[in-house]
Amino acid sequence: MTDLRLVLNRNPGTPGLITLPEGGYRRARAEIMSWPGYAPTPLRPLAFAGPASVHYKDEGSRFGLGSFKALGGAYAALKVITAELARRGVANNATGAALEAGEFREATRQITVTCATDGNHGRSVAWGAQRFGARCVIFVHHNVSQGRRDAIARYGAEIREVTGNYDDSVRAAQETAQAEGWFVISDTSYPGYTEPPRDVMQGYRLMAEEAIGAMPAPPTHVFVPGGVGGVAAAVAVQLRAMCGAGPRLVIAEPERAACLTDSLEAGAFTTVGGDLDTVMAGLACGEPSLLAWQELERSAFASMALPDSKVPGAMRALAAQAIEAGESAVAGYIALETAWSDPSARQALGLDAESRALIFGTEGATDPELYKLMLSPNFPSRD
Ligand SMILES: Cc1ncc(COP(=O)(O)O)c(C=O)c1O
Repeated sequence: MTDLRLVLNRNPGTPGLITLPEGGYRRARAEIMSWPGYAPTPLRPLAFAGPASVHYKDEGSRFGLGSFKALGGAYAALKVITAELARRGVANNATGAALEAGEFREATRQITVTCATDGNHGRSVAWGAQRFGARCVIFVHHNVSQGRRDAIARYGAEIREVTGNYDDSVRAAQETAQAEGWFVISDTSYPGYTEPPRDVMQGYRLMAEEAIGAMPAPPTHVFVPGGVGGVAAAVAVQLRAMCGAGPRLVIAEPERAACLTDSLEAGAFTTVGGDLDTVMAGLACGEPSLLAWQELERSAFASMALPDSKVPGAMRALAAQAIEAGESAVAGYIALETAWSDPSARQALGLDAESRALIFGTEGATDPELYKLMLSPNFPSRD
């Protein structure tokens, strides 16, 4: 496989649908900013020769959960729990603070929330369920590391393993929830299922707002990792709200799970099958999120599919700048580095000495054992 696969969006422009309405974002923002421990994560200038500036949004410290996903799943879980309390006639408009204080504990205990995860989303949902008093069951596939399972179980969730890949675990969560009367809090949307993933993405926008607001000048290029596309779409919406149409959004995906790159290339929603085996565990997704795709099919400028072999080196390069970046966090950094070192890619993206790049570093060392292993010079490089 070649090291560089860059696909430009053939149909760029403003999306026809409003995927993330502003009112929903204002509510998500106010709620999340009121949570104990809320603080914007740091935006770090990187030493990176070439562009005028490169900034790295470091999500490692987000709410003590280690990734930006803390903003999404926990907020969507709160929305589902409060809607269910209203439906059951227990409380209209219960607040997160009231639930955390245990005001409706008898009723919230009867509510079970569930999702599939490759680590970070499940941790966020489990964290939210515990804080807001609901029961939680999380579905994982066999490639999810023990460290990540333990981190979810620490928030009191039950873990269930599913045969197959991430997309199979999504289906298992959905089918079990339907049979048991549970509530799916998915970070990916599909036909007929849009509301929790929309709330998840509204939560992610806060990360984008913090980062863009902290830039000394608006970015010209933004690099964001792509799993199902939720975070890329949330960044796209926030970028348009704050900077208009100028900045170019580049999605960075593993080459073995490049469903967004494939979709941009085809000009249509496209899925990838197989094991989706990549060290970038959070990005091992074969099916774009429907809502995310509806946003990105117009607002993404390009997408890149990247080899696993570049991950340990990128983690080490960031560690040398005192940044602890997990395997999925480095995708954007790899994309910029790869594009910058290839003249035709640099030209295709319009990257030059005037460019101001913003990279979303979406997680810290969310699996500390694996992080240590991958940072060691002996870690095998594989493609
Ligand atoms: C650290 C990290 N970065 C990026 C992503 C990709 O997010 P999305 O699936 O919304 O594209 C994930 C998803 O789990 C993740 O855990």
